[in-house]
Amino acid sequence: MTGKASIHYLVQPGGTLKGRLRVAGDKSISHRSVMLGSLAEGVTHVTGMLEGEDVLCTLAAFRAMGVLAKGPEQGRLTIQGIGLHGLRPPAQPLDMGNSGTAMRLMAGILAGQAFDSVLIGDESLSKRPMKRVSEPLGQMGARIDTNEGGRPPLRIHGCQKLHGIDYQMPMASAQVKSSLLLAGLYAEGETAVTEPAPTRDHTERMLRGFGYEVQVEGARVRVRGGGTLTACDIDVPADISSATFFLVGAAISAGSELVLEHVGINPTRIGVINILKLMGADLSVENERVVGGEPVADLRIRGSKLKGIRIPEEQVPLAIDEFPALFIAAACAQGETVLTGAHELRVKESDRIAVMATGLKRLGVALQEAPDGIIIQGGKLSGGEVDSHGDHRIAMAFAMSALRASGPVTIRDCKNVATSFPDFVPLAKRAGLAVKVICE
Ligand code: S3P
Repeated sequence: MTGKASIHYLVQPGGTLKGRLRVAGDKSISHRSVMLGSLAEGVTHVTGMLEGEDVLCTLAAFRAMGVLAKGPEQGRLTIQGIGLHGLRPPAQPLDMGNSGTAMRLMAGILAGQAFDSVLIGDESLSKRPMKRVSEPLGQMGARIDTNEGGRPPLRIHGCQKLHGIDYQMPMASAQVKSSLLLAGLYAEGETAVTEPAPTRDHTERMLRGFGYEVQVEGARVRVRGGGTLTACDIDVPADISSATFFLVGAAISAGSELVLEHVGINPTRIGVINILKLMGADLSVENERVVGGEPVADLRIRGSKLKGIRIPEEQVPLAIDEFPALFIAAACAQGETVLTGAHELRVKESDRIAVMATGLKRLGVALQEAPDGIIIQGGKLSGGEVDSHGDHRIAMAFAMSALRASGPVTIRDCKNVATSFPDFVPLAKRAGLAVKVICE
């Protein structure tokens, strides 16, 4: 899906971010709306959908299994649901591109089908751990073969009778939880998942929106198989994970003031707000409302002096995708920032601790890596060249670092920004970032 040309960013130093912006639609909610809309009875209308490559992979997979959908066009998608048992065998392996969410959630859905399927992905996804879903799905009766070490491709055998399990998740992962709950729709009896710490609950909320009963008691979520999903309309809020680059960019540059509109502030996603506030950011949550079962608000942020902190471990799963940008905030803060309890960052689209550490060092930042985190000494940033290793969030985080750098920052390998935030560059330019795209 991504072309062969390399894309790099060249960002001139300094400047401020100003204005009102609506960033791209929420990736997690967009994936789930395509999945549940496809498996529902009736027509689902989605607005505000992220048209990023990750979500387009999910949509292409359902189309390859017989689902008819119109769009997406300017965030609008109309899906003709074919019911939980209406999918048809795909003629080819289903390509999940760069998306761990797509692969893990689809594994849960496909485990319950009456046909065989294969899930493949790009170079980064092909290295990511899938045992975390193939093992518990196997306990439910699924048959899934993986490559060595539990890596993709996933070969999923159809016609298996699934049964519910009571699963204690070893890691805080919404992807694993969601995969099992989706398989649970096809299982006999009850599927229960207990999480070690709260993770995003979009699957639970959306299942309810589609009229499916979900029981939640503390850290335990349960569904019973054999129900139906009823089509509904979904308004996808702006993605707080995409808003984060602008929150951090504005927070680190004196004189900035941005309002980010219609941002999803689900309590399981607001770690970045909590952490930036602890660092002393001038951030206010305005105009709070609920849209389609998800809380939404406008976020106002002004440049201010940030201070280093010890990041509370309970905030880690609530900000799991926001650490590349938060590391930039830490590098611009006064004093030391300490992150622990974040092993999961090592198995994202890249090893985000190692890749961020290498890039920050290139910009002259003093730091110390740990297996589950990092210690960053705030101070001055020089210009320089960093490599995102094909990780969209690392590319966007370093783009914002230029606001405080003493020289230009070049970020290599930025094409995967299109997976989650295709209009990042035009929006960033509009806000005041001096970013230029270089194609090679
Ligand atoms: C996601 C869950 C998170 C997150 C990913 C999206 C989801 O992964 O990092 O970008 O949509 O469920 P884990 O649940 O594996 O932490």
